[in-house]
Amino acid sequence: MLKNFFAKRIKIKDIPLAATDNIDLSNVPKHVAIIMDGNGRWAKQQGKIRTFGHSAGAQTLRSIVKIADVVGVKILSVYAFSTENWKRPVTEVNFIMELLSDYLTAELDELNEYNVKMRFMGDKDALPPAIQKKMEHAIKITADNTGLILNVAINYGGQDEILRAVRKIASKVQQGEIKPEAIDKKLFEDNLYSRQLPPPDLLIRTGGDLRVSNFMLWQIAYAEIWTCQTYWPAFTQENFLEAIASYQQRDRRYGGLNKK
Ligand code: FPP
Repeated sequence: MLKNFFAKRIKIKDIPLAATDNIDLSNVPKHVAIIMDGNGRWAKQQGKIRTFGHSAGAQTLRSIVKIADVVGVKILSVYAFSTENWKRPVTEVNFIMELLSDYLTAELDELNEYNVKMRFMGDKDALPPAIQKKMEHAIKITADNTGLILNVAINYGGQDEILRAVRKIASKVQQGEIKPEAIDKKLFEDNLYSRQLPPPDLLIRTGGDLRVSNFMLWQIAYAEIWTCQTYWPAFTQENFLEAIASYQQRDRRYGGLNKK
C-alpha cells in the first residue's frame, strides 16, 4: 500500500506532498461522497456567468479524483445533477448536460489510465440519448478496471431512488417472487442505484450550506459529515486532505458505545 502510494505520488506531480503528512493511510475512508456546491456563487464572485463556475467545477473534479485515488479512497460518489436541477433555466441545464458529455469524452482516457472504474446513479432514461450512450461507453471501457470507482450521480435524487426501490420490491411481492417478510436491509439496498457499494464513510459538502440536498439519503445514515465554506471550483486537493484528516479524528460509534 505504502509503496503504491509513493509510486503514485511521484507519478502525479500536482499533489502537494507536505499536505499528505497528516493522513493516516491505514484509516482512509473507503467511500467518500461529495456534494459539489457553490459553482454559481464562485462564478459570480469572479464577475462571470454561472456556467463559468460549472466548467471550473469540472476541473476541480479532475483534481479531486486524483488525490482520492492517491490516498487510497476506493469509491468517490459525486453529485453532478439532481432530479431537482431541471428547475434551473434551460440554458444552464443544457450547459451542464454538455459539460457532462464533454467530461465523459475528454476525461475517459485519463480515467482509464488511472485504472478508474466508472459508475452512475440516477434516472438515465430522462437524459439526452447522446449522454446515455457516453455513459454506457464509459462503463464498458472501464469495466475491468480495479482502481477507484468514480460514481457519478446524474439526474439523481435520494427520495426518487428510495421510491424506485420500493416500487421494484412491491412489484416482486405482487408477482409472488418474494414474501414481505423477506424484505430486509440487504434486499432493499440491492434495489438501490448504489447496489453492491458500501455506504459512504464521509460526506463532504462544499459551499457553506448545511444540508444533504436529497443526496444518498439511505446510504449516508452513518456517514461522517464535513463541510467547508469554500466553493467547489476553489476546492483544492489540500482541502480534500483536510476533510480526510478530520474524518480520522472522528469516533464512529454507529449507535453503540465509545471503544476508547
Ligand atoms: C452546484 O453548484 C453544482 C451543480 C448543480 C452542478 C455540478 C456540476 C459540476 C461540478 C460539473 C462537474 C461535474 C462533472 C461530472 C463534469 P450550484 O450551481 O448549485 O452553485 P450555487 O449554489 O453557488 O448556485
